[in-house]
Formats: sequence, C-alpha cells, structure tokens
Amino acid sequence: MVATCAASNLSGNWLIATPNGDGTMRRTYFHLHEQDHRITGTIRATLHVYSIDKGTGGPENFTISAAMRILGGERRVTYRGKLAGDQLQVVEVGANGASPTLFARRVPEGEGALPARIEPPPLHPVRDNGLARTPPMGWNSWNKFANHIDDATVRGIADAMAVNGMRDAGYTYVNIDDTWEGERDARGNIHPNQKFPDMKALADYVHSKGLKLGLYSSPGPDTCEGYEGSYGHEEQDARTYAAWGIDFLKYDWCGAFTLYKDSEMQAVYQKMGDALLASGRDIVFSLCQYGLVDVWKWGPAAGGNLWRTGGDISDSWESVSRIGFSQNPLAPYARPGHWNDPDMLEIGNGHMTDTEYRTHMSLWSMLAAPLIAGNDVRNMSTSIHDILTNREVIAVDQDKAGLQAKRAWQSGQQEVWTRQLAGGDTAVAVFNRGSKDSQVTFRWADAGIPRAPSHIRDLWRHTEEKPLGPEYCSEVPGHGVVLLRIH
Ligand code: GLA
Repeated sequence: MVATCAASNLSGNWLIATPNGDGTMRRTYFHLHEQDHRITGTIRATLHVYSIDKGTGGPENFTISAAMRILGGERRVTYRGKLAGDQLQVVEVGANGASPTLFARRVPEGEGALPARIEPPPLHPVRDNGLARTPPMGWNSWNKFANHIDDATVRGIADAMAVNGMRDAGYTYVNIDDTWEGERDARGNIHPNQKFPDMKALADYVHSKGLKLGLYSSPGPDTCEGYEGSYGHEEQDARTYAAWGIDFLKYDWCGAFTLYKDSEMQAVYQKMGDALLASGRDIVFSLCQYGLVDVWKWGPAAGGNLWRTGGDISDSWESVSRIGFSQNPLAPYARPGHWNDPDMLEIGNGHMTDTEYRTHMSLWSMLAAPLIAGNDVRNMSTSIHDILTNREVIAVDQDKAGLQAKRAWQSGQQEVWTRQLAGGDTAVAVFNRGSKDSQVTFRWADAGIPRAPSHIRDLWRHTEEKPLGPEYCSEVPGHGVVLLRIH
C-alpha cells in the first residue's frame, strides 16, 4: 500500500501553474515535508523563495506560512489547503482575504529548484560604450501598460511618436518592459512570448519610424513578473538582442535577490555590461536595482549609462515629489554618458493635475534625468502633449554640460533649484511644494546667483520676463513651478 501512503501525505514537490495568457506560465512550487502534523520546506513563487516557518495540519487541512528577507525587510506568504485526490487545493491568504482556489499537482523532485549559484566575476571597470551623452529620452511600457503590452501596442506607440512631435523633440527609445519574455529553446536561446511574434520584425518596424527599440531583463533566473531572466545566459542574450536590433536594455535586479548578496551587484551588472559591449551593437545599459548600495558610485564602472536611484514611481504627487526633491545629494554623480534615474515619467497617466505634471517634467529636466514617457502617447490631451514636448524645457534636460541641478534656496515649502548650463546660462526652477498658491520671493544672491540676471526667460510661458533687480518674485501655484532660464 505504498502508493496510498504517498498520496495521503503532503510531502513532495507541488506545482501551481497559472497561464499568463501569452503562452507562458506563472509557476509556484511548494516543496513540502510533512511529519507528525508539522510541515516544513520552501515555496518558490516566481522570483521569491520563502522558507516555511509555520506549517501545521495534514492532508485534510493544513496551513503554511513562509517568509523571505528582501530589501532589508521580511516578505511573508500564507496558504491554507487540503489534499483532494492527487491534487492540492490551496488558497493564498493575504490582507485582503483569500485568493480563489488554486490547484497544485505533483511534479518530479528537483523541478523548480533554484539553479546553482554562478560565482560573479572579479571586478574590473567596463569600457565606456560612448552612448547617452545626454540623458536618454523615449517611452517605456510599464507605467501605463504593465503586463498588457504587445507587438501591436508597441507599433502603435512608435507610429504615434513618429508623427505627434515626440520623436522630433528627442524621444527616441521605445522600450518594452517586463513580460515580453518567452521560453528558452534547447540551445538556451531566449524567445519572445506570444505577445511578440517576431522581435526582429518589430525592431525593424520601430527603426523604420526613426526610433530605437529597448528591452528588459534581469540578472536573476526570473524577472519581477516571474518571466525568464538572463541568469547564466548573459552573453547569449546580449547576442540575441543585438541580432534582433535592440538598442537599450533595462536590467532589473529582482530575480537576483535569491542568489546574490547586495555587495555582489556590481560584479553581476558588470557581467551584462561586458556582454553588451561584446555583442558589437550600441545598446544603452540601464541599471534597475532601486538605488541600493550607492549604485551612483559604481554604475559607470559596471557599464551603466543610467541607474535607478530608488524604488518604483507611481502616478501621484506624493510619489513624484518625494522622489524628485530627494535627489539633491546625487547631483555630483551625473555626467555625460552616466545619469541618475529617478524613474520613468508618469505625465499623462491621469492621477495628477497638469500643474503637477509640469512640475514633474521641470524637476526631471533640472535633474538631467532620463525622460522616458510612461503614458499612452497614442491618445493624450493637448496639454499633456505640450508638457512632454516643451522644447525649451527639454533643452534644459538635454544640456550638453550634463550638470544636475542642486537645491539653492529653501523657505518652508518653497524651493529654488539651479542648474548650470553649457554656454553660461542658468536654469532656475522655483517650486511651491505646498498645496496652496503662494508668492515666492527670494534674492538671487541667496540662491547662489551673485549678479542679478539681465535676461530671464520663462520656459513654460515662453516669454521674456522683466528683471526686477536683486530679487525675484512670482506667484507659483500649489504643487507648481516657474521654470526660468537666465543669464
Ligand atoms: C520593477 C521595476 C519597474 C518595472 C517592474 C516590471 O518593479 O522597478 O520599473 O520594470 O519591475 O516587473
């Protein structure tokens, strides 16, 4: 009766495979050991590997709770379930109640186990690829479309950018974020999933519009969304990207958390930096590891053209102002070819006012940040279009000197940031972080500008302002900005 015995015990390797709708599966593995109503083992849910620290019950009814350490904190999952025939029926129990019932089947021992760890290479500086002499500009799918991105949408976005003035204003890269990935073939070559039938053809199409195409991957086995990462296939993937005609890679740490320590990040990123160079194609390298371990200090040495300086942005004033106004200490690290990336734009995604979006655009331009639009540019209001394509503001962002703005003056919720531009002009952003309209008055000298300017141009109104002597004074709307170029 060995078979009955085995079937009535929870011990074993169980898989929940949920179709993503693009030919790939979201896989969760329960590797369980049951003895005397105590359950131990691990749960691997896409990139997350949890250890079961509370597991009680048996085949009729069990509860398992498991934890993992991530980003200096703990992440926890809890499942309840029972054995029904040859299936496990489980629900995930979260803060918002229980999930629908999920069904797990037995799979061979070892399936879904984390791959063996590959030692990171010794550190060396990656040769500068010579790209991104000004902050990269373009569009990325994540902020608006998340998982719902496909070939037709990307073509539509490229079509729109080619005719709506964005391309001509400098927005060049059309970047596909997570969820394009399919499976690897027997030779280990990565293929796109069903949403992207032919990546080379898509790249050709985007190039035919005078634009460039970007992709996304992870140094880990999985991406944040649980798709195939580049782990152990770095050179091969870089060659594949080059063969497809890819021009930009966003490389997201997510799935590497399980295999590498934070202190190994530089070496792990360096590996892809080298691989992209070796591919022979010009591919901008975008580091996405949420600003951990002072990436601004080693990003360039790992081959990075830009590096995220923090966690994910969202379409809210709270998020944009918290991220944007905290970038002051990072100013010294931005320079041509190597940029701080406070994350992609949310302009036009609908949860902020035009005033707030103008502040977002102004602040990012002052910060010499990459301008990667994140809205549905096929379909945007005139005001959003005008914010994204304001050439005078873009000229600040794209200034050749590549010096990032610093906070020069502050009084309560009012702040003045200044940015030295090539040729001697200065960009001056007068922010009102408060929610009410207010009058901002400051002395130029107090904002580090020793001589009162003879010329003041308002970059949103597109007008010359009359210099008023040693002081500047203006009404600034709540959450708003007055952006000036002076000399
Ligand atoms: C992380 C990144 C985001 C986005 C998602 C995709 O959260 O920080 O910008 O790429 O992954 O899964």
